[in-house]
Amino acid sequence: MKQDLSVFFKPKSIAVVGASKDSRKIGHAALKNILISDYPCKLYPINPKEDQILGLKCYKSLLDVPGTIDLVLVSVPAALVPNIMKDCVQKKVKFTIIISSGFSEIGNHELEQEVEDIIKGTSMRVLGPNTMGFKNASDNLDASFVFGVPRKGNLSLISQSGALGIGMIYLANNEFVGVSKIIGVGNKLDIDDDDLIEFFSHDPDTKVIGLYIEAVKDGRAFMNAIKACDKPVLVVKAGRSSAGARATASHTGSMAGSDKIYSAAIKQAGGIRCRDIVELFDMARGLAGQPAMKGNRVGIITNGGGLGILLTDACEENGLVVPKLSAKTAKRIDEIIPDIVKPNNPVDLVADAGFFRYESATKILLEDPNIDGIIVASVHGGYARPREFTGAILKMVREKRLHETHQKPILGTWVGGTEFEELVFDLKSAGVPIYPSSWRTARSMYALYVEGQRLKREALQKESNQKKSKSK
Ligand code: COA
Repeated sequence: MKQDLSVFFKPKSIAVVGASKDSRKIGHAALKNILISDYPCKLYPINPKEDQILGLKCYKSLLDVPGTIDLVLVSVPAALVPNIMKDCVQKKVKFTIIISSGFSEIGNHELEQEVEDIIKGTSMRVLGPNTMGFKNASDNLDASFVFGVPRKGNLSLISQSGALGIGMIYLANNEFVGVSKIIGVGNKLDIDDDDLIEFFSHDPDTKVIGLYIEAVKDGRAFMNAIKACDKPVLVVKAGRSSAGARATASHTGSMAGSDKIYSAAIKQAGGIRCRDIVELFDMARGLAGQPAMKGNRVGIITNGGGLGILLTDACEENGLVVPKLSAKTAKRIDEIIPDIVKPNNPVDLVADAGFFRYESATKILLEDPNIDGIIVASVHGGYARPREFTGAILKMVREKRLHETHQKPILGTWVGGTEFEELVFDLKSAGVPIYPSSWRTARSMYALYVEGQRLKREALQKESNQKKSKSK
């Protein structure tokens, strides 16, 4: 039986084959990253020429290491990899990460097949080849050769591109999106997207799963994994255009496949296709901290009519509805807005709206059973009060009692200059999902709607299973 991936992400012993004293080499960086992770494990550098690397006893071969090895990182030229893999099999290593490039991504399918043949019939699992490895931020283990420390959180990322995976770490940090694990799958010789989706689906540190894919090897397994997953799955699939598909083939040696089929299949499986990485992070920020939408009705609160219309358009274009206010809600809103405006949805609080108007309007919409999610927006037009807007939204998002009672997401939108930017920076660092465009806000609300639908299906399924087991 193949190994369960929990030991892969939390190994007790790790060896780095191709560890080097030369700080310019990948094998040096990989060893150093594990060492500076301060992760509790036995660590063995492997290099036939050295006795000691980075203060650690070095072994000539994996076979010389005393005791068992859970995880091996391989960083030697591709041609040497098959022999190392034979050692791994002989040593009964549980997991191997082949960092080395030079396999099917450059057309060297025979070498990849040779590795596949070596591991066939064993219980060892292999990540790569042509991968950066992984970073497990939740448990402080960096089993990759790239620098970059992710902010801890509950998004787990799977990337077919190593470089993009690395870029995602920095972007996530900039966007204040916390990461649990980030992993590069490379050529997916063995450990594939579906294995990881399944693992993350049960991983207590993961709340949202994000993928960057260029192609999947086993479409059915991939879609089944998304379908079976009880967490939101966000997918950036590259190669939408014909030129992009051509680039995919030369990057990881895989075929992009029909883009429309991918879109339909991801949707049908219950996943969400994102246009790009920024959209993935936007959605993850909402999904990680906000309740899902129970229906598709959005209430919009703004201090600028134009921004309200843009938000309405963007919501409707994404399958959400911006309904008219009920008579009861309209009456309550009328009591808190200036006489120069009428109570509508979008609720126009007028340019000078301060803390009280924002807070009251949000609470009124939270209490309205005809509204499933709320967008609180502010445009910095002349005499607007961005500090009061950001203060109100921070209070609302943080007020746990409000969330527990109403179970409705609150997202923010802002349009303005540097003063606003600084305030929004503080909001983002406090975990408030706030976006600088109507479209990005609406897309994130859409993700919360899709998640709500998924949860509904899950609840129905549970109910029907319970009924079935009772009737037996
Ligand atoms: N066991 C252990 N170590 C061995 C070995 C063996 N059987 N045979 C050689 N080595 C040692 C080498 O002597 C060297 O150590 P040294 O610096 O002390 O001499 C070390 O392993 C590395 O081998 P080297 O030949 O110097 O290779 P390299 O470090 O220049 O390149 C790779 C190796 C894997 C990094 C390179 O081939 C590669 O694939 N680079 C791209 C990686 C990549 O980008 N991956 C995808 C990321 S998304």
